[in-house]
Formats: sequence, C-alpha cells, structure tokens
Amino acid sequence: MDFFITNDDCTKIISNIEDDSLDLTLTSPPYCIGKAYDVHTTIEGFKEINEPVIEAIYNKTKPGGAICWQVGHHVTKGEIIPLDFVVYEIFKRVCPNVKLRNRIVWHFEHGANCRNRFSGRHETILWFTKGENYYFDLDSVRVKQKYPGKKYYKGAKKGEYSCNPLGKNPGDLWSIPNVKSNHVEKTAHPCQFPIGLAQRIIRALSPKGGMVFDPFMGSGSTGAAAILEDRNFTGIELDKKYFEISKERLTLAKKGLLRYRDIETPVMDPAKAGAVAKDPIILKPTQELSL
Ligand SMILES: C[S@@+](CC[C@H](N)C(=O)[O-])C[C@H]1O[C@@H](n2cnc3c(N)ncnc32)[C@H](O)[C@@H]1O
Repeated sequence: MDFFITNDDCTKIISNIEDDSLDLTLTSPPYCIGKAYDVHTTIEGFKEINEPVIEAIYNKTKPGGAICWQVGHHVTKGEIIPLDFVVYEIFKRVCPNVKLRNRIVWHFEHGANCRNRFSGRHETILWFTKGENYYFDLDSVRVKQKYPGKKYYKGAKKGEYSCNPLGKNPGDLWSIPNVKSNHVEKTAHPCQFPIGLAQRIIRALSPKGGMVFDPFMGSGSTGAAAILEDRNFTGIELDKKYFEISKERLTLAKKGLLRYRDIETPVMDPAKAGAVAKDPIILKPTQELSL
C-alpha cells in the first residue's frame, strides 16, 4: 500500500483527483476557533472553507463510498455552535444524493475545564454515503461482548449462542482517549485525532486496497491508520510543518515502526489504576497539617 501527499491548499487541488475514485474520505477540518492554523475565526468562515471542499469530494467519491466529517464545537462569547449541525446542512444542500448513516459521538476525558458550563468531552463524526447502496464491514470492527459465552438456556435455540460470537456492534458512542501531551501519538500538531478512531472507521467503511483521502491532513492520523489497515492514502496539508510531520509518520507506518495506541487498549479506569490522585486531606478549621 502507498501514500500520495501534497503540501498545498486543498481547495485548489482537489480537482486533480479522478472523479468517482475515492472509497472513503475521513477528515477533520479547521474549526475556526483561533488555532494557529485557523485563517478564519467565525462560523461564516467555517462554512466558506468547508462548502467547496465537501462539494468537490462528493464528485470524487465512488458510488457507495463514504465521507466522514469529524468536528467539535465553535465557541463565540461563551455560546457554542455544534459544527455537525452546520456540516449536515451543507452536505444535504450541495451533494445530490448523500445519506447520513451515523452520527458517531466520540467521547474523551481530557480538555478545557469550563466554569460557566459543563466541560466539553465529546466531538462527533458524521458518516455520509454516496447513494443508497454502500460498503459496510461490521464484522471487522466488532467488540467484545459483556458475556461472550452466553447461550440460550431454553427453547428451540437452547445451547446456541444468544449473541454474535464474533462480538457486538461497537455502537455509535466511542470512548477513545484524545491525543494530549502524554499520549504516545502526540506530535507538534495541536489538534490530532487518535489513530485508533481512524482505524475503526477505515476498517468498517473501506475495502482493503481501497483509496482513503484526507484534504485537511494535519499530522497524518488518517493516513497512518490507512497504511496500518492496508489501504492506500491521498492527503493534502497546507502548513509545511504539519506536512513534514505527516510525511514522517506515514513513512514510519509503512515501515511498521510507528508508535500508536491500539484501539483495543482499555481506557484507564482510575479506580483500578490505583491512587494516582489522592483524596485531599480534609482539615478541621483549627487542625494543622503535619506530615
Ligand atoms: C483539525 S486539523 C486536522 C488534524 C488531523 N486530523 C490530525 O489528526 O492530525 C486541520 C488541518 O487542516 C489544515 N488546513 C487548513 N486549511 C487548509 C487547506 N485549505 N488545505 C489543506 N489543509 C488545510 C491545517 O493546517 C490543519 O493542520
């Protein structure tokens, strides 16, 4: 499998991609919230960047192919706008025959601690297909059952497995740690999504040997996952620094040397992991702390 990446503005060069050639696009565009790479900082700017890219990608996607847009929230003066609302409206308006198949909620534990609202701990992935018939390999992403060996104990099916022995459907709520400073995948890019998140999508929504695309490649997480999953990858990144990070990660992935967090690794349970953070010592008002 191979990768083909370009350091350029995706709005200018998507037209070079052959029509009806992409099996899957998985991307996370700039949210326009003031990150170093954000050209715009308004919701109008977000629409301006996304609309032409979405329209162009639709034409480049195979019939039955998938387009996944991973987004969070835009925040203006403390008011949040869920970006998937905006993305959904654009898709349904500019792509003649897209169907939304899932709105996946990606849940994670770390991020800004808010004082005036609940801290944001999820983002979403909208999975659209081009047309009615589409690729979906559920068996490739099944997860462990809670009670794997459970069988019917009476009736006509007595003795047979009462659940799928290959595992259960992972559902549309995915708890996967986000890439913060101690994460094994962390690079100098400020907003990476985890490779495991991309691996599950790529496995389920594209065939082996297929073509995966990311127009806002960032540090190359989609591309690395595509290579790890035996797919080809095309990516575009505007910023030279991030482009170089992608190139390095993709090269390592191809050589089998990239470090990443496997999606099967259980999410840390603080109760089981031991007393990482100890209960605060509660002092009576007059009591002094003696250690
Ligand atoms: C949210 S980040 C993507 C992060 C990526 N999913 C990862 O895991 O590393 C968005 C990226 O889009 C890039 N970008 C912004 N405008 C672009 C454009 N017109 N063409 C190509 N890339 C662009 C930014 O430099 C940034 O790296």
